[in-house]
Amino acid sequence: MRDRLTLLELVRSLRLRAQVSRPEDWAWGERQTALDRLSSEIVSCRGCQLAATRIKAVPGVGSPEAQVVFVGEGPGYEEDRKGEPFVGKAGQLLDRILKAMGLSRESVFIANIVKCHPMKDPSTPEARGNDRPPSPEEIAACRGFVERQIAAIAPRVIVCLGAVSAKALLGTTEPLSRIRGRWAEFRRPGGSGAPIPVMPTYHPAALLRDEALKGAVWSDMKAVLAALGREAPGAGVLRPPGASALKEGAQTRR
Ligand code: URA
Repeated sequence: MRDRLTLLELVRSLRLRAQVSRPEDWAWGERQTALDRLSSEIVSCRGCQLAATRIKAVPGVGSPEAQVVFVGEGPGYEEDRKGEPFVGKAGQLLDRILKAMGLSRESVFIANIVKCHPMKDPSTPEARGNDRPPSPEEIAACRGFVERQIAAIAPRVIVCLGAVSAKALLGTTEPLSRIRGRWAEFRRPGGSGAPIPVMPTYHPAALLRDEALKGAVWSDMKAVLAALGREAPGAGVLRPPGASALKEGAQTRR
């Protein structure tokens, strides 16, 4: 009888431990540790040709407990030098979008599909305008990193910034114009845990080229806030077509 009880207790405690070790249930420290380990792996990764020409790998920045993870395409010139995602012109626009949402770089997590700078001509790393989209091979070599970052953070929502990110995370070949602004799902590898809602939207660099896209992005970001049960801070921010909100920023709550 005593032996059966001990066995029962053991089974219970093992079950409890298995549940506690699900990333969804992790505490801040466990998430941070997992992200730090991933960052170390990323900076020493030699998994594709980009490792040979990068200045700095760009793992990602933000909160290990972020409710929203923003995923871009890959580092550009500025990011390669700083080791931080979205610090160039597109990054400054992303900061304004976050501010208009009442969020900040510290309260969300920002990462890219590939962690090193894809260059058109790697023999001229000093040249500006030398960025290119990552190749399917580079995406395949790197995608495990972003998947594990997402698993460690277990956000409530993922925002895909641009076609490369949306296609890679959703495993689709549909053009961004078809999938943008519509909720989709990120299925965690191995099928563990519930799928995470994904909002595909335009990349901030596309907004820099075409201001008319700002209204669509703002509408997508309002849908993200609604999914989080939050409101955009201040009616001024909601003014269509959204250009003023994204240009000037808005009052922040965080
Ligand atoms: N564009 C991206 O997709 N990511 C960055 O980090 C910078 C620009």
